[in-house]
Amino acid sequence: MTADARNESKVVVITGASAGIGRAAARRFGAQGASVALLARGRAGLDAAVADVCAAGGRALAIPVDVAEYTAVDAAATRIEEDLGPIDVWVNSAFTSVFAPFCEIDPLEYRRVTEVTYLGSVHGTRAALARMRPRDRGAIVQVGSALGERSIPLQSAYCGAKHAVNGFVEAVRVELLHDHSNVHITIVQAPAVNTPQFSWVLSRLPRRPQPVPPIYQPEVVARAIAFAAEYPRHKQYWVGASTVGTVLAQRLAPALLDRYLARTGFESQQTEATAQRRASNLWTPLDEADGRDYGAHGEFDDRAHPRSPQSWLTRRMRSLGGFGRA
Ligand SMILES: NC(=O)c1ccc[n+]([C@@H]2O[C@H](COP(=O)([O-])OP(=O)(O)OC[C@H]3O[C@@H](n4cnc5c(N)ncnc54)[C@H](OP(=O)(O)O)[C@@H]3O)[C@@H](O)[C@H]2O)c1
Repeated sequence: MTADARNESKVVVITGASAGIGRAAARRFGAQGASVALLARGRAGLDAAVADVCAAGGRALAIPVDVAEYTAVDAAATRIEEDLGPIDVWVNSAFTSVFAPFCEIDPLEYRRVTEVTYLGSVHGTRAALARMRPRDRGAIVQVGSALGERSIPLQSAYCGAKHAVNGFVEAVRVELLHDHSNVHITIVQAPAVNTPQFSWVLSRLPRRPQPVPPIYQPEVVARAIAFAAEYPRHKQYWVGASTVGTVLAQRLAPALLDRYLARTGFESQQTEATAQRRASNLWTPLDEADGRDYGAHGEFDDRAHPRSPQSWLTRRMRSLGGFGRA
């Protein structure tokens, strides 16, 4: 049976489903015939995500929710089960960040990034486990980052939160293994991806922010997420040769990498263009203001790779071996 067929008719929840990687994943699961619950805050993005999932062949339910609020996430999960049935897969993709040197980030902004990016994932996992553990089945897929393994300058709040996600997921995974549970949690470590985050995250950089090249399209990560939902026993998925290189270099020579990033890390995160004043999505969704749907892709289509041979090979080897299937 193909991975597509195995996701068919599953109930899948995606946080951060209105844009970027979450939006691409929603389309992917929709195309596999899943019922997809879409959680985010912005109405325009959510409405467009519903249309995407339905056009792809799935069922969709959008619920506006701020993932920093546990009671709201839990209430959303209750509604999803009433409307769509028992949750099979929960994907945590929602996040926010501030692009700035540490000393230029206000303590309240720092706290907000942590509450959305780290605690949002904790809340999603808690809501999922509360429903999956009594049934003894289900898969939780965390969208992680190479920057959760190796921090870079100008993103201290985000890197701290993504490292925390890794520590949290590892502990929960071990607890589930200890209990011989059939509920599994895994993490997809993503490379730099062409998503709207670079247009709407709060930035205090002098020039326009960009993902550190090489840049991949969000569909590359969406494929890995859908696969991880089918094979969630595997501890981690690394997506993109750049993620593999980053993680291995960090394990071999972290202090050398510090010096390399001190030299290159400020430049590589900015384009040549001077930054314009812009609104951000830190506290409220940006699409509320103008009703614009930001979609899955950011501004870097001309520079983004639509495929990752490394990620394809990983999926191929894992599915041929059959190891780790849910
Ligand atoms: N893009 C990259 O280069 C990259 C690299 C590695 C890992 N990742 C990971 O991929 C995931 C998605 O990133 P992305 O680049 O796709 O981000 P994005 O384009 O900025 O999209 C973020 C999504 O999260 C939602 N969101 C933001 N704050 C929220 C809140 N408080 N409550 C609920 N939803 C909220 C946004 O919708 P609303 O604003 O409408 O709520 C949107 O749907 C993140 O976990 C990130 O760490 C991204």
